Amino acid sequence: MYIVQIASECAPVIKAGGLGDVVYGLSRELELRGNCVEIILPMYDCMRYDQIWGLHEAYKGLSVPWYVGEIYCDVYCGWVHGRLCFFIQPQSEDNFFNRGYYYGGNDDNMRFAFFSKAALEFLLVSSKRPDIIHCHDWQTGLVPVMLYEVYKYHGMDNQRVCYTIHNFKHQGMAGADMLHATGLNREEYYFQYDHLKDNFNPFALNMMKGGIVYSNYVNTVSPHHAWEARFQDVGYGLGHTLEIYQDKFSGILNGVDYNIWNPEVDEFIPHQYSIDNLKGKALNKKALREKLLLKDCDKPIIAYIGRLDQQKGVHLVHHAMYYALDRGAQFVLLGSATEPTINSQFWHEKHHLNSNPDIHLEIGFDESLAHLIYAGADMMIVPSNYEPCGLTQLISLKYGTVPIVRGVGGLLSTVFDRDFDLDRAPEKRNGYVFYQTDNHALETAMERAIGLYKEFPKEFEQLFQQGMEYDYSWNNSGKKYMDVYNHIKA
Ligand code: ADP
Ligand code: GLC
Repeated sequence: MYIVQIASECAPVIKAGGLGDVVYGLSRELELRGNCVEIILPMYDCMRYDQIWGLHEAYKGLSVPWYVGEIYCDVYCGWVHGRLCFFIQPQSEDNFFNRGYYYGGNDDNMRFAFFSKAALEFLLVSSKRPDIIHCHDWQTGLVPVMLYEVYKYHGMDNQRVCYTIHNFKHQGMAGADMLHATGLNREEYYFQYDHLKDNFNPFALNMMKGGIVYSNYVNTVSPHHAWEARFQDVGYGLGHTLEIYQDKFSGILNGVDYNIWNPEVDEFIPHQYSIDNLKGKALNKKALREKLLLKDCDKPIIAYIGRLDQQKGVHLVHHAMYYALDRGAQFVLLGSATEPTINSQFWHEKHHLNSNPDIHLEIGFDESLAHLIYAGADMMIVPSNYEPCGLTQLISLKYGTVPIVRGVGGLLSTVFDRDFDLDRAPEKRNGYVFYQTDNHALETAMERAIGLYKEFPKEFEQLFQQGMEYDYSWNNSGKKYMDVYNHIKA
């Protein structure tokens, strides 16, 4: 099958979070299954160009209709760790993608509406006719809309769209201006509830809703979150739309690319290890302590890696730091915040705490440090308010780092409480789960984990080995996406 992924991120060239990992890992898995896969991305100025091989111009002067004129783009092509990627770069001086950082700005919806249009235009003029176009999140929600309403009439009538929602919180709201820009001219038509009109704001168009309505198949990234999105409030207003389209909606769990996230082959960590030879795990813990100037001692290291925002339960992350110190554990945090108050709060904590040899806060994005933390820590907290899938707990399991998670979304689908998951055999349990969003709930889960580590080290080792045995590779999920593709193609 010929599959084109259209997305705003692809690791490692451009990654803000799990979306980048998924676009890369899924593409690789689909290729291993014998498909031809290409990825279309914006050409940001802040990409990691050193991770692209053989970058060259593939198409010069692609004319993209925009308002009443057009914007010309150049399309570059190169390999990102073996995956063939096309990068769209507008020629105009005010290049939409030269912004240093790639989200956050009043015109984000216009930038990605333009990207969606340019990607389709590129497929059209370069005579690429994929069997499947796979789009991700609000940034590409307009792709199926324009494909169906416009490009279908230019010979692209055989393409089927799978639309994956990684985060319902960000939906891409726009006004009529976006219709004029993209050439979706019938304003009254699109401003209807069964098209793009937002379910709550009658003056807004919702790009993610467009993706749901117009795609042949829609999924989010874990079965439990698919249920939550429909029946609880985590669909952020789209639950009703998902109800209407329930026959083409499901949850497919993300995988982890074990070529990259695997302690047996990880090149970022000084000591490789496996379930049969765990010596390296202890050595990585020592290396992590040395790198972050933590005291060498027999305390467990509890870690947090992730964005610092409301979604991730940032108030609980903050509490966990102090609680860990209180209970005789060490704590390592690697995270970045886009919200200024959260950012300054954690910078303040960093200045206040980093002289303490039991804690280290690293504010920013650091891929190689992330690998060392997964390998060197004993436990990973993931106290999210909501979590469509979550990759940190999956990676932690592979590295023998026990996840302590809140029981929501993909966390609930993948982590099984050592003490309380009575539906599961004890040897199949792999972590700790708590449910409420208050400090006390987190404390009881941390307490159980720290207690086991200190009082029953053999049982703790057994628990993390049980986690390492879980297979959350792309193998299973890749098969599920293939089933979807085959289904919509038929
Ligand atoms: P989300 O996509 O919601 O941010 P996920 O758990 O799906 O959360 O994916 C997060 C990914 O980003 C993981 O690969 C994690 O290791 C990585 N990550 C998050 N924050 C950082 C950071 N500050 N430095 C390095 N890697 C990070
Ligand atoms: C989103 C979600 C996260 C998920 C990731 C990849 O960013 O917040 O839960 O793992 O996308 O699908």
